[in-house]
Amino acid sequence: QDKKLWGGRFAEATDGLVELFNASVSFDQRLAEQDIRGSLAHVAMLGRVGILTPDEVTQIQDGLNAVLADIRAGTFEWRLDREDVHMNVEAALRDRIGPVAGKLHTARSRNDQVAVDFRLFTKEAALDLAGKTRALRAVMVAEAEKHLSSDGAVSDASGPVILPGYTHLQVAQPILLAHWFMAYAAMLERDEGRFRDAAERMDESPLGAAALAGTPWPIDRQATAAALGFARPTANSLDGVGSRDFALEFLSACAILAAHLSRLSEELILYSTFEFGFLSLPDSHTTGSSIMPQKKNPDVSELARGKAGRVFGNLMGLLTVVKGTPLAYNKDLQEDKEGVFDSYDTLNVILRLYADMLPKSAWHADVTKAAAARGFSTATDLADFLARQGVPFREAHEVVGGLVGLASRSGRQLWDLTDAELRAAHPLLNAEVARRLTVEESVRSRQSYGGTAPERVREAVDAAKAALG
Ligand code: ARG
Repeated sequence: QDKKLWGGRFAEATDGLVELFNASVSFDQRLAEQDIRGSLAHVAMLGRVGILTPDEVTQIQDGLNAVLADIRAGTFEWRLDREDVHMNVEAALRDRIGPVAGKLHTARSRNDQVAVDFRLFTKEAALDLAGKTRALRAVMVAEAEKHLSSDGAVSDASGPVILPGYTHLQVAQPILLAHWFMAYAAMLERDEGRFRDAAERMDESPLGAAALAGTPWPIDRQATAAALGFARPTANSLDGVGSRDFALEFLSACAILAAHLSRLSEELILYSTFEFGFLSLPDSHTTGSSIMPQKKNPDVSELARGKAGRVFGNLMGLLTVVKGTPLAYNKDLQEDKEGVFDSYDTLNVILRLYADMLPKSAWHADVTKAAAARGFSTATDLADFLARQGVPFREAHEVVGGLVGLASRSGRQLWDLTDAELRAAHPLLNAEVARRLTVEESVRSRQSYGGTAPERVREAVDAAKAALG
């Protein structure tokens, strides 16, 4: 155990349990690269403004690079008694180059360091997840395009793959499978945007806030901000070291993305059941049971659904940490990191898994089409037919509702009703009209902008492909 870097005023050694409780090195060593990048930018600036001599700058730079090489090689000794990543790096630098290492900490504080390191990390994480979200969106668009014809599906059906569209998980109206994929593509587009917006807003360097109040040293915060790839320095020193809304924003974007992926998971789990039979998930992305030989379980989707819980929890956890902290830095803020790491790692894997798994999943077009025809899914089309002949829509709704009741009581579909039954319900109806109530015709007719007609979905696919480049 060496003397603490902050040990000047202390007469007694730190209690062992306090040391353990206080330390963050077990997890913040993940910020080592960012920490050293920050120190290199800081020391170069100290040299440029004349606070350190060129020789001191060179010694410190060489030492920091050697420490970085040790860390990358895995030979660095992370020490709990050195508390966190910042003091581990600085103490290792002192071990290497002696007391001149102590000049590195001129005109900065650990509060700056952690705020800088963590912003650098979170910005990179946000941009990485933005890219992976975009990649999954490209997969959704490719799947949509594939299923605009039945060629990509397992069946002898022809034409675009038709899926039952649901509301309340009750059959509502037929839709294209491609339309369903494009709905997820739209959500992912906004998810990507949220990550990019967050990255842009957090693109400010707190380095040089110097604990909380700024510093009397003639530092150049613009220069260090630029050297670290930030757009600008933070404008207020208290805010720069005391705020974590950048992490909250990242965690919010993560939580919303996790919610979307969880909805997708829920649908895949349901649709791949024996009872639905809409699709088969690939063997490579499903698992078996140790006792039941027939089982093929959708573990990836179940975990993707389940892990939404921890991703939401990470957001709630940090909101709760931040809400009671007076300005500026408080040690509570050390709790900011693990949730961000966890949400990042969790989504990183799920995004990659789904990008691989979806193209390998086989949709059963004949099953989905048959399911899309059940449950009176074209009842709206029949009501629309009457309304087009001038019958007020509310009245048409009532008439068709009566026919649905009649058919369902006798275990029939609308097109099984007799000519006489249809004519009795309304003089404009007959067997010929009912026969035209196909799922293909229903889908084809939904030409409104954003609707499920094949032409509209084709346009949406083309627009998305152009946007994705
Ligand atoms: N390990 C600390 C954290 O993660 C670094 C900042 C410590 N600052 C301080 N004044 N104790 O927040």
